[in-house]
Amino acid sequence: MQHFFSTQTLLLTYALIALSTASQLAAAQGIAKETITLQTKTESDTSVAKESDKQSINPGINSNFLDPELDVDQWVARFEVESREVYQSRKEILDQLKLTSGMRIADVGAGTGFYSILFSEAVGDAGWVYAIDLSPKFVPYLSQQFDQRKLNNVTTVMCDQDSICLPPSSVDVAFICDVYHHFEFPGDTMRSIHRALSKDGRVIVIDFERIPGVTREWTINHVRADKATFINEIQDAGFELIAERKIQGFKDNYFLEFSKRRQ
Ligand SMILES: C[S@@+](CC[C@H](N)C(=O)[O-])C[C@H]1O[C@@H](n2cnc3c(N)ncnc32)[C@H](O)[C@@H]1O
Repeated sequence: MQHFFSTQTLLLTYALIALSTASQLAAAQGIAKETITLQTKTESDTSVAKESDKQSINPGINSNFLDPELDVDQWVARFEVESREVYQSRKEILDQLKLTSGMRIADVGAGTGFYSILFSEAVGDAGWVYAIDLSPKFVPYLSQQFDQRKLNNVTTVMCDQDSICLPPSSVDVAFICDVYHHFEFPGDTMRSIHRALSKDGRVIVIDFERIPGVTREWTINHVRADKATFINEIQDAGFELIAERKIQGFKDNYFLEFSKRRQ
């Protein structure tokens, strides 16, 4: 599914981000506020195809998540379970992210939001979390979860297939966990992340190893390419690999850290 992202919508998005910055200020001043959801697409935007008519690199990979009938509880049971490496290792992953008070982090493809909730505490009242997704069922669920927990430093963002829809230099870290292989327009999405990152910003990519003969069949069929291919694609979008971090709990996944490439 492709959407036209108009200048008006961009302006609206940036205005809303400015509003969230105002809310950040309000939070810092101890003024109560509600979680804000950024609805970045207007009714008319969604019906207009992109002129370029780009081809998805993996058509249908997100059909479950785009389904307006998606059963959120079923996905909570699937994502937030100790047998899932990226859930079981969440504390170790959080330690590796080295988040400090005041940082701004984008949880790209936040899903059911358990990482955004951990990030909210890690960056504190002076920091900010953007929980970004394109699923029409996950996005309202995320807002509801943050409101219930009275988190006053999280903004939920309904993004586009080819952009995370954040303004320039708005975040210090972009976290992409079990999501990169779901990007249908990985070059465009990574370039939108490049723009949204501050000068010294970092990108964390956690994804599945894909090694024929070693990796289980389901993953081979589900994940379109191996780690080396993903690294090349991400570097082509303007990043530089700075480290692969060891996560003790990982057998099937890897953790990569990128910075913006120095000119
Ligand atoms: C397998 S889930 C992972 C969710 C979460 N990160 C976790 O690890 O539990 C993939 C998520 O990425 C989202 N997604 C897919 N393509 C995306 C894109 N281009 N931009 C933002 N989110 C995307 C899906 O809607 C879904 O919520």
